[in-house]
Amino acid sequence: MWRLALFGRLAASADPVLAAIAAKGVKELTYHRDYAAQWVIRLGDGTPLSHGKMQAALGAIWPLVDELFQADPVTAALPGVAADPAGLRAEVDTVLDAGPGAEVTVLLDGRSSTATIPAGTPVLDGAQRVRPDLPFACKGGVCGTCRARLVAGEVTMRRNYALEQEELDAGYILTCQSLPASDQITVDYDA
Ligand code: FES
Repeated sequence: MWRLALFGRLAASADPVLAAIAAKGVKELTYHRDYAAQWVIRLGDGTPLSHGKMQAALGAIWPLVDELFQADPVTAALPGVAADPAGLRAEVDTVLDAGPGAEVTVLLDGRSSTATIPAGTPVLDGAQRVRPDLPFACKGGVCGTCRARLVAGEVTMRRNYALEQEELDAGYILTCQSLPASDQITVDYDA
């Protein structure tokens, strides 16, 4: 979760190599986070033994979580290139506090597809499982290729370096940066 949030920020890094590596990593990390989350739920809801072990593991690890969000001198010396760890906290907390997921419907080339995507997953990443033809390029909120119009529901956009205010006012979002903030959302790539 933390690493996915970090790579999401680094995808917009001023360093093009770092940004490219991070953008590629986002897709992989999204898969790993969702896979790991399923195991946590499965073991936590499983036998008394598995539940106890999961409880003990979380109890041991949780006190260390704050360290992930502490600034360090190297990161602070690279503004625009590195990502401030403190800036990741809100996103990670949002994912932890979120429900099980959202039902996302996408419209592209006149065809409608629906997917249930896990909490904290960007609309683009989640919907690509059912529509691999969805347009994207940077996945860092910079290029605008993933632009679509939000026609139902609500999202939280992590960052936006591509859309003008009038586009935002008209309901356009960057789907690579938009986390579902309601149980059901619909986005129209044809709009
Ligand atoms: S893919 Fe570039 S802004 Fe979303």
